[in-house]
Amino acid sequence: MKIFAYGIRDDEKPSMEKWEKENSDVEVDYTDQLLTPETAKLADGANGVVTLQTTPYERGALEVLKEQGIQSISIRNVGVDNFSFKDLNELGFKLTNVPVYSPNAIAEHTILLMGRLLRRVPEVDVKFDNGDFTWAPTIGKEYREQTVGVIGTGHIGRVVIKILQGFGAKVIAYDVYHNPDIEKQGLYVDSLEDIYKQSDVITLHVPLFDSNKHMINESAIEQMKDGVFIVNCARGELIDTQALIKGLDDKKIAGAGLDVLDNENRVFGKEWGSIDNLPSSDIKNLAQRLNVIITPHNAFYTETAVHNMIKISFDSNKALIEGQTPDTLINTK
Ligand code: NAD
Ligand code: COI
Repeated sequence: MKIFAYGIRDDEKPSMEKWEKENSDVEVDYTDQLLTPETAKLADGANGVVTLQTTPYERGALEVLKEQGIQSISIRNVGVDNFSFKDLNELGFKLTNVPVYSPNAIAEHTILLMGRLLRRVPEVDVKFDNGDFTWAPTIGKEYREQTVGVIGTGHIGRVVIKILQGFGAKVIAYDVYHNPDIEKQGLYVDSLEDIYKQSDVITLHVPLFDSNKHMINESAIEQMKDGVFIVNCARGELIDTQALIKGLDDKKIAGAGLDVLDNENRVFGKEWGSIDNLPSSDIKNLAQRLNVIITPHNAFYTETAVHNMIKISFDSNKALIEGQTPDTLINTK
């Protein structure tokens, strides 16, 4: 049996080599390139592929894999929003993801973004770098004074809630599915409008679907409290960037922490060198604000997460090839 892996980074190699040693019946080969119609032929001779990318998976790439007899794809991450389920079904692919590699990685990053906004850390840093050791005007806010609205109480949202409660914040939550533990604590509100109206800080932890693209738009922002903070460590397309910029300009929004950006591939992973070279005026607009913190979709990026992403994706791909039904199988129907 042979598995071919795409987009392998140096930091993933030790875990991948460990997995290969523990699974001596499987031959592993890899490339640092992403899966595209051009690179798909590199997998020739393999029975399945393991991959990770934030760019869309093109139908052309899937067609080349299929021509080579490959029908099993295992991604090393959670979100499956860059696949067309229609393409997967028409071409007969089975897809697995890694639904839980370390929710704490993303939750901790979320809390750090929130804390940096509440304590105005970017402003303090600029003052410090200019040799200014004075306090004003960077007076901060405490977590325990905040009502934090958590949208999405899945694996990541629930860890976010637990950490927030440790800080003494008041948490309210919204999800289309009610988790029994969160329900028992009485944290759920009935609607997104309740979250918008009551929250000092709003944090997003839902998957991206066609139906919730730009859910944070002008109309949602209008309903929010003046001076709200918004944190997004889920998917960039959940927020309408133009509406966010307007909310920041109007001072309706006091700040934003963004690990993900709408159409982020035009920015992340590239060597632009400086804000001035950013290819998009809206991202440049956000990046130069001291009350907006942008991180390069690295909320997931911890040693624990990377190790688990490799192990679980390779285990899943092996199981698919052997004709098993791993619990990481995505229902694409
Ligand atoms: P999860 O599936 O465990 O939880 C998602 C929750 O969202 C579920 O409880 C679901 O019922 C709820 N939900 C779905 N649609 C909803 C809607 N329209 N309104 C309200 N609730 C809705 O997923 P998770 O592991 O918590 O991850 C959440 C998202 O975080 C992922 O889908 C992914 O996009 C993103 N993510 C980002 C990073 C990163 O590095 N920034 C890493 C991992 C995951
Ligand atoms: C995910 O796991 O869905 C992420 O957003 C992490 C990233 C490496 C794609």
